[in-house]
Order: sequence, then structure tokens, then C-alpha cells
Amino acid sequence: MKRYEQVTETLRAQIESYQLRPGEPLPSLRSLSEQLAVSKNTVIHAYQQLEAEGLIEPRPRQGFFVSHGQPLPEVSASPRPVQLGALALNIIRAASCSDLHPLGSADPDTRFPARAQLYKTLAKNARHRAHQQSKISHYQPPPGSDLLRSRLAHHISESAFACKPQEIIISNGTQEGISLSLRAIASPGDIIAVESPSFYGTLQCIEALGLKVVEIPTIPGEGINLCLLDKVLKEWPIKALLLNPNVNNPLGFQMHVGQQEKLMAITEPYQLPIIEDDVFGELNYQSHRHPPLKALDTNGRVVLCSSFSKSLDTDIRIGWVVPGKFYEEINYLKYVTTLASSGLTQDASAEFMAERRFARHLRRLKRTYRQRWDLIAEDMCRHMPREVSFSHPEGGYLSWLELPAGCDGDRIYQQALSEGIAITPGSLFSTRGEYRHCIRLNFSVYDGNPDLRRALIRVSELIRQDIGRL
Ligand SMILES: Cc1ncc(COP(=O)(O)O)c(C=O)c1O
Repeated sequence: MKRYEQVTETLRAQIESYQLRPGEPLPSLRSLSEQLAVSKNTVIHAYQQLEAEGLIEPRPRQGFFVSHGQPLPEVSASPRPVQLGALALNIIRAASCSDLHPLGSADPDTRFPARAQLYKTLAKNARHRAHQQSKISHYQPPPGSDLLRSRLAHHISESAFACKPQEIIISNGTQEGISLSLRAIASPGDIIAVESPSFYGTLQCIEALGLKVVEIPTIPGEGINLCLLDKVLKEWPIKALLLNPNVNNPLGFQMHVGQQEKLMAITEPYQLPIIEDDVFGELNYQSHRHPPLKALDTNGRVVLCSSFSKSLDTDIRIGWVVPGKFYEEINYLKYVTTLASSGLTQDASAEFMAERRFARHLRRLKRTYRQRWDLIAEDMCRHMPREVSFSHPEGGYLSWLELPAGCDGDRIYQQALSEGIAITPGSLFSTRGEYRHCIRLNFSVYDGNPDLRRALIRVSELIRQDIGRL
């Protein structure tokens, strides 16, 4: 191999492995020739070769830079910036409009007595504070209320894995936990691996932090494709893996223990940090919860994020992070980002969790959502066109509908919205628009109410019309 070819190959390897990142300057001709003990002409020749391959580009009076649009080596999934735009925010806004039939945003039923109990406690505490004599107000700084962390630790230890209060940080919901974890582990430009389809809130968080994603397809009923994950880890400098393996949104599957063990083994040699979104994890339909990945974590690289949003109320904004070895970074970021979570809601949540009330509530919740799944599944079998297939969730209250290729979930979403029905278009669940022929339905309040049944039948008709256009 000629000298310039050796230089070319070294630089090519550095660019393809992201040691030299897009937009980064290459060394000047003189410094590289000195560093490698080759002539300037050899370096010029190597740079010309890399330029011809599109890997680097010259900038007048500045030298050479790694191209932004570098051709990527062939892999089934490759990193890309996330650009989902404002559709998700519109959907969340539309969902908060109480006039709509709520088959869209992943919000829980609010009619359980436990939620009312939580708000009564909150109101009692607020009244107490109104009459409080103390002169000065205090933050409840990170990691958060001792009593709440102690009750959460007890609950987690009884249901999932051994956990101490001092291992927990209180957050403003799962979304903040995920955002803090990503910021603690990765920097703008880094690559995060996610499963596909993926909850759009997660993708948008990655977008907002200037990170890139590699989307790895999910195998229905199993979880992330582990062969492909293995390949991606060999080819890309992945900073973290972000997964929603327990009662997945949108597919509703649970990753079984054998698959979880394989996942941990594949990621072990890289000591890859895993951010586990467990927000629906306690809503599986079996009597005991399925263990989270965190239960298999022996060296603190799994960061578990969860909240009361799906089990009690989205509005309470109390979540928790069990950050393993990233505790200090996440605790500090929580402090500099929001100073503290509301002490009032933390105290009420802690009081609510006394005497296993939360565990009892969860049992009731699971039974109810299971019954609602039976109801909507029966109605979908009766009314949906035969060409539509839908996921059978193992918990929670979401089902993913796959329509024939060429159908347009965005159009069906707009039509349904104009008729007062909220659904979620599948296109939001990927950066590549590959699920445009899918939609997601929320059945949390699907309790046999005739209006909601009519709404489902209307969605079935809209889908049928869309299929008719093909
Ligand atoms: C999978 C998933 N993760 C995270 C969130 C955000 O949850 P939180 O309200 O706890 O911030 C949601 C909300 O819909 C979700 O579906």
C-alpha cells in the first residue's frame, strides 16, 4: 500500500468511527505531515482522495473539514438528526380539549378513587399551608422528599428489585427523568440507539438536545431486534440505548426475561448506558409486574425513569429516576434545571403511598384496563376493515393499528379531528416517516360508553375510505 493510501485509510477509519465528527476541522497539512513523518504532498494526496469520496470538504482559507453529508457505511439503520416538528405538540393540545373523544394521547382514566384520594390529600395539605405560620418558604431540593423516596423504595423493592431511598431522585415526570439522563450521558452530536417505533416524546427530547438517533426495528412481541443492535454497536459509537421495554408505547409488548438477559449480555462489553423508560411498566395485565431491565443491572449502567402519569394522573408531575452510577450527574442537572420539584405534590404523593394504597390501586387498574382491552378488541374485530391488523397489548391501554401500505394515518388523523375524535398518527413514532400507514388508539376510557363506541366505528369508516383510495 502506498504511503498516501495508508494516510487516507487512517483518516477514513477515524471519520467512519466518529472519532472525527461531521463539521470538525482536519489537521493542517503541515501539522499532519509532521505528526505522521510524511511529506506535505502525501497529505495533500490523501485529502484529495477523501474529498473525492465526499468524506471531507475544503473551506476557503480555513482548510479541510469532515463533511456533514458523509456517505455512511452500509448498515440497516444509521444515525440521523431528529426533525419531528410541531405535530406532537398539536396532538397534546388537541388531547387536552375535553370536547374530543379521547382515543388519541396516552392519558389514563381519571375516575379511579385512588386519584380522588390523592387530590384530597393535596387539598388538605394546601389548606394547611394556607394557614401556616412560618415566615419563610423553602425549596425541597434534589434528590427530593425523604418520605416519598422511602415509600417509593419500599414499593419498588416489593415489586421489582432491591432499591434504597438514597438511590432515587424525584423528577417532574418521566420526560424530565429521560431528558436529565440523556444530558448526563451524552453531548450534542452523539448517537443514541432507540427501538422503532418509538414514543414521539422521547424522539423529540433527543431532537431538542441536538443528539442523533439510530432507530432499530422492534420484532413484534419480542422487543428491539438484538442482532441488529449487536451490528449497530459494532459499527457506531453509540452513547446510550433508550428503551421502553415494559408495556411498550405504542406496541404494548413486554420484553421477556430471556431477551432482556441477551440484551444485557450484548451491551456488557461496551458498558453501554441504558435509559429504561418504565412509565407503563406497572400496568401489565398479570398479577405481578414483569421485572424491568434495571433488575438485571449489576454495575449501575441502567437508569430507570418512571412516574405516576399513567397510573394516577398526568397532571401531578411526580416522577422518579433510579440512576445507578449516574446519580451525581443527574442529581446536579436536576438542581440546575428546575432547582426542585414541587414540595406540595411530593408530600401529598408520599402520604398517598402509605399503607400499600398504591399497590392496591394498581391491582384494580390492571383489571380494569384488561377488561377495556377485551371490549375494544371485540369492537375492532367487528368494525375494522379486514386488512387492518392491531397489536394485542400485554398491559396498559394502547393499541397500534397497521393499515395497508399506502394508507395515510396523518390524513385519517386530520379527518377524525375535524369530526371531534382524537387519534394518534403513526408517522410520529419514527424520524423516517415509515409508520405513516399506522395509527395508535388509546382505550383507557373505553368502557362501553355508546358515544365512544360510535367514535371507534367512525374511525373504522375513515380507515375503510382511505383503503378505498388505494
Ligand atoms: C412511553 C412514554 N414515556 C414517557 C412519557 C412521559 O411521561 P411523564 O408524564 O411521566 O413525563 C410518556 C407519556 O405519554 C410515554 O408514553
